[in-house]
Amino acid sequence: MIDKVYRREGIFKIILQTENTWNLMTFIKQRTQAWRWLATDQQFNQLYPSSIERLAKRHWTPLSIAQKAADFLAAEKEARVLDIGSGAGKFCLAAAYHKTDAFFYGVEQRKSLVDHAETARAMLGLENVSFIHGNFTQLDFRDYDHFYFYNSFYENLAGTDKIDDSIDYSGELYNYYNRYLYKQLDQKPAGTRLVTYHSLEDEVPANYHVVQAEMDNLLKFWIKI
Ligand SMILES: C[S@@+](CC[C@H](N)C(=O)[O-])C[C@H]1O[C@@H](n2cnc3c(N)ncnc32)[C@H](O)[C@@H]1O
Repeated sequence: MIDKVYRREGIFKIILQTENTWNLMTFIKQRTQAWRWLATDQQFNQLYPSSIERLAKRHWTPLSIAQKAADFLAAEKEARVLDIGSGAGKFCLAAAYHKTDAFFYGVEQRKSLVDHAETARAMLGLENVSFIHGNFTQLDFRDYDHFYFYNSFYENLAGTDKIDDSIDYSGELYNYYNRYLYKQLDQKPAGTRLVTYHSLEDEVPANYHVVQAEMDNLLKFWIKI
C-alpha cells in the first residue's frame, strides 16, 4: 500500500517537473525569439507588413527611446502604463519586453493598427501588454498609473505628415484632445509619471515637473508634484 502511494507521488513529481521544465523551455524559446526581433529597429519594424514598416521612421518610437521611457515609467512593480495613441504598438511591445513586471496598455483609434499590434504581440509571445481599439477620451484614466505620449495629435495640424487618410483631421480636434488630456493628467495623484516625445507640451499641466530631458528636449521625463 505505502509502496503504491510512494509510486503515485513519484509519478506526480515527475509530471510536475516535466511541466515546469516544459514551461521554462517555452519561456526561454520565446524570449530568444523576441530578443532577435528587438535587436535593432530595422529588425523590429520587419514584424509588420511593408506598408506599416515604411511609417516607422516618422511615426513609431525608436527602441532606444522606448527602453528609456519604460525604465522611467515602470519605476514600481506592477505599474500600469498607458500609451496614449499606440499606433502599431512599438512602444508598448518594446517596453513590455524590457520591463516584465509592469503592464503596458495601448489605446489606438485606428482598428487596422490595433490588429497589427496584436499580431506582433503574438509573434513576440508577450503577455504583459494589451491593445484597446478606441479613442483615448473613452478611457477611465484611474485605471492607469503612468503615461507615455508621442505627440499623438499632431496629424490634426495642417502641413504635417499623416499616417493615412482613414480619419478626419482638424485644428479643433487638436485643441480638444490636448485640453482633454491636460484635464485627465491634472486629476492624477502626485507621483504620476509622464514621458513625452516630440511634444509641444500643450497637454502637460504646470504641476508636472521635468526631472530629466534628452535629445535637445525632444524627450522629457516628468513627475507630478
Ligand atoms: C506618433 S503615433 C505613435 C505610436 C506609438 N505611440 C509609438 O510610439 O510607436 C500616434 C498615434 O496616435 C493615434 N491617435 C491620435 N489621436 C488619437 C486619439 N484621440 N485616440 C486614440 N489614438 C489616437 C494615431 O492614430 C497614431 O497611431
